[in-house]
Amino acid sequence: MNPVKVGLLGLGTVGGGTANVLARNQEEIARRAGRGIQITHAAARETSFPDVNTEGMTIGTDPFAVVDRPEIDIVVELIGGYEPARELVLRAIDNGKHVVTANKALIAMHGNEIFAAAQRKGVMVAFEAAVAGGIPIIKALREGLAANRIEWVAGIINGTGNFILTEMRDKGRDFAEVLAEAQALGYAEADPTFDVEGIDAAHKLTIIAAIAFGIPLQFDKVYTEGISHVTRADVDYAEQLGYRIKHLGLTRRTARGIELRVHPTLIPHRRLIANVDGVMNAVLVKGDAVGPTLYYGAGAGREPTASAVVADLVDVTRTLTTDPENRVPHLAFQPDALSDIPVLPMEEVETAYYLRMQVEDRPGVLADITRILGDQGISIEAVLQKEPVGSASDVSVIMLTHRVVERRMNQAIERIEALPTVEGRVTRIRMEPLDKDD
Ligand code: HSE
Repeated sequence: MNPVKVGLLGLGTVGGGTANVLARNQEEIARRAGRGIQITHAAARETSFPDVNTEGMTIGTDPFAVVDRPEIDIVVELIGGYEPARELVLRAIDNGKHVVTANKALIAMHGNEIFAAAQRKGVMVAFEAAVAGGIPIIKALREGLAANRIEWVAGIINGTGNFILTEMRDKGRDFAEVLAEAQALGYAEADPTFDVEGIDAAHKLTIIAAIAFGIPLQFDKVYTEGISHVTRADVDYAEQLGYRIKHLGLTRRTARGIELRVHPTLIPHRRLIANVDGVMNAVLVKGDAVGPTLYYGAGAGREPTASAVVADLVDVTRTLTTDPENRVPHLAFQPDALSDIPVLPMEEVETAYYLRMQVEDRPGVLADITRILGDQGISIEAVLQKEPVGSASDVSVIMLTHRVVERRMNQAIERIEALPTVEGRVTRIRMEPLDKDD
């Protein structure tokens, strides 16, 4: 049988890795797919590709020319960003081609439109590489866990953010210095605020939630908070209390709606996911039948991401001749069976909290604070008061609370910040047990 012909858009880090993995493992891949997979055409901005096996490829600069070539069966979009990626993918679909993409921003923002177009045309759009790089989390959620009612998913899904928090904890390094290193190592997004402010994780969480719960992609509903306000002191205090701070993407099904949130989170240090360090990613999925399952691996990088792209190419190749009605649905659930269960506003989300505040070191101060928390129905789990530093008259007070609805905590924090004995803002970091009974 003739090899499947692939048009590759983008020959950068992931594109080059995809070409190399396909070439190096071509025999194994053909044995799995049932026929060869060959990149025949590519479009790239670069003009030289020193570390890429480009044998058999015709390389140009115009991606639309690749998308319009009649002989191409599958278009692989590795350009990234919203445009022209969206236009290229929609044109490929319109031309009747299957698409493989690693573009999380594109799927999170425009996936509903793209999948509807693909459904009409009877083509596949595969996107394993868009979430957690080389970890086959889409495959696991969409197929491996298909028997389960998924209860929640929590993931470390941004390697740059995890690298920063790990270096702060292990080596006491400062935020800005570690970020610069992550950029130099090529982990960070082109705009690193996407990493540190949680936007990249929110893109990935949007996709995870859609597949886990059978809801449309709703990037605009994700509560997104970055890690730039996490200090070394918070990392140290959390450690003293038996917790690690991780930048988590968390989505949970509740009786009132879906939680969809990205923020720094205290996790008990004995959880496996709390020990996922450096640029590594991990996704913890709780299904009602299987219980918690954990998926760990490289969330970025040339060949780890290429591993996911090539796996999608194999998947698409295997099903080229199947009836579109009998393929795995793009978002795991049949398109006419998606749920309209609402996404909860952050104020309605219930969680536990770590609070840190700077207070005057005199009698009655703690009593005022605990009274306010009590008034709001907030129960305290632990209190830590640090010694004043040198001749300072104020001290740091750290509190862990039991679960409470965020709206009540907002009201309590507003009242605490208004106390004359409390200086500045209260730092609040949410806390999640992530255990099997959660
Ligand atoms: N900037 C992303 C990260 C790359 O650091 O995880 C992979 O999506």
